[in-house]
Amino acid sequence: MAKITYIEHDGTEHAIDVKPGLSVMEGAVKNNVPGIDADCGGACACATCHVYVDDAWVAKTGEKTAMEESMLDFAEGVEANSRLSCQIKVTDDLNGLIVRLPESQH
Ligand code: FES
Repeated sequence: MAKITYIEHDGTEHAIDVKPGLSVMEGAVKNNVPGIDADCGGACACATCHVYVDDAWVAKTGEKTAMEESMLDFAEGVEANSRLSCQIKVTDDLNGLIVRLPESQH
C-alpha cells in the first residue's frame, strides 16, 4: 500500500492507503475525496482529475506524456507541477506522496 495525502484547496487533508496498480485518481474516487471528478474515467480526456504534485515528489511521479500535456491545456491554473492524477500509477515507491487540489475543483 502507498499512503497518499490529498489536500483540498481549503487545506482539508485526506490520507489514504492506495493499492499499487491503481491510479492516483482512482485512489481518490474510491475513497470519496472531493474535487477529483474524473469525468472521463481515467482516459486522459477530461482534465477534471488535475492535481498539483508536491515538489518533493515531482521526479518520482514520472514524466507527462504528450497526450497528458495537451489535455492539461484545458485545465485551469496549470503550474509546472500540474498532473492529471489518472495518469500517475501508484507504486510502493509513491508511499508518502502528497498532491494538492486546484481551487477550481471543489
Ligand atoms: S480522469 Fe479524465 S483526464 Fe484524468
